[in-house]
Amino acid sequence: MKSFPAASLISKYDTAAPRYTSYPTVPYWEATFPDAASWIEKVRSSAQLAPEISLYIHLPFCEQLCTYCGCNKHITKNHGVESPYIQAVLKEWELYRAQLPEKVTLKELHLGGGTPTFFHPDSLRFLLTTILETVEVPEDADYGFEAHPWSATREHLATLSELGFRRISIGVQDFDEHLMEVVNRRQTIQSVVDCTNLARELGYTSVNFDLIYGLPFQTPEHIQKDIEWVKELRPDRIAYYSYAHVPWLKKSQNAYSEEDLPSGEDKRRLYEVGEEGLRELGYLDIGMDHFALPKDGLAKAYQAGTLHRNFMGYTTSKTRLMIGLGASAISDTWDGFMQNEKTVQGYLEQLQAGKLPLLRGHFLTEEDRRLRSHILRLMTQYQTGWTETTPEIADALVRLEQLEADGLVCIEPQRVAVTSAGQPFLRTVCLAFDARYWRTLPAGQLFSKVV
Ligand SMILES: C[S@@+](CC[C@H](N)C(=O)[O-])C[C@H]1O[C@@H](n2cnc3c(N)ncnc32)[C@H](O)[C@@H]1O
Repeated sequence: MKSFPAASLISKYDTAAPRYTSYPTVPYWEATFPDAASWIEKVRSSAQLAPEISLYIHLPFCEQLCTYCGCNKHITKNHGVESPYIQAVLKEWELYRAQLPEKVTLKELHLGGGTPTFFHPDSLRFLLTTILETVEVPEDADYGFEAHPWSATREHLATLSELGFRRISIGVQDFDEHLMEVVNRRQTIQSVVDCTNLARELGYTSVNFDLIYGLPFQTPEHIQKDIEWVKELRPDRIAYYSYAHVPWLKKSQNAYSEEDLPSGEDKRRLYEVGEEGLRELGYLDIGMDHFALPKDGLAKAYQAGTLHRNFMGYTTSKTRLMIGLGASAISDTWDGFMQNEKTVQGYLEQLQAGKLPLLRGHFLTEEDRRLRSHILRLMTQYQTGWTETTPEIADALVRLEQLEADGLVCIEPQRVAVTSAGQPFLRTVCLAFDARYWRTLPAGQLFSKVV
């Protein structure tokens, strides 16, 4: 039986911290921009070391603005945007492909958004067949996409299934139709049910639901209803996200006031109701905010200690090179990060000029790489170890003293493990290893709260 944190711990540790899909986190990337030539060199050498790669394609358009949304998106009802955007993504891929070895295996492919199912299935087919013709597709390819239940049609699911997609991530957020209206999201329960059934019928082997706790006006009763629907539809995975409230970055979140949002203990209660319900239904807690049925690959990787985490979140594939295509997409060579131009306009202009649309990047130092490995292990295994107590480890241990006294971590001579009481504060534990954060404490608000 899992213990839940006392109110005093919540008020003490409910501070702002990154979600650690990377280390260093994006606000701490060097201000100096790595030049395109050295970035290309990093991509090339990374692919030479390990020619099995991952691709993330950001498809930013949405027809309607969900006010809670923290993602990079472009709202439009004009589908004339599809073709120029796809041409630009293909141009970007061509620029990267020219730098890669002749034989490249595409192990992992993820379409994220925005709303990938904004695009007509024929547009997606054209984009993907053009890319897939230039790579090897392995037997155990891991291809998935984000589906908005309102816009995902049978034709979308069938087209992507034909192209080798076996994972679908359905954006549910909450089953309550009234709550969805409050956040300006067009969605019905029936649309989620239909999308789930269709995915199963068409042979998708891993169905994920994105759920959010902490939405405006959400109560434990809403979460209980969500759990009932999970029992009925039995998705293989669940991303149970803590609502990230960052109105200084996402103006649409000002649509509701702080009083409308469950916070502190109330928000934690929402998590607990969901966690308890999922556990009773047989789901395993595989990492921060993520659950999976024991038969799902993510749960198996967690149990085998091989789980990985990158900009796409938790994944079973650990490739060295991940190329991000599309506006705002981030690439990772393991020793370097690069983010693309964030606006669709800026992205298109760079590619029309025949240039990679690079916005900002960071090349990792030796210390960054060591700390990245520790944070990655904490995020995927709730523990990390070392053979030599380097200065950054010594600093982290000092920062962890209070957490140890509160029973959130267990410190051994060459290892730190997060206790079950500490699991809700995993981001705070990782923060202790975030040397760049402590060297330059943020001047303003950067991150959402831990709880
Ligand atoms: C990149 S979004 C795309 C989803 C897709 N457009 C849809 O609406 O179904 C992926 C997921 O991020 C999560 N998300 C978006 N904004 C969030 C926020 N402010 N806090 C927590 N999770 C958020 C949602 O669960 C969403 O399904």
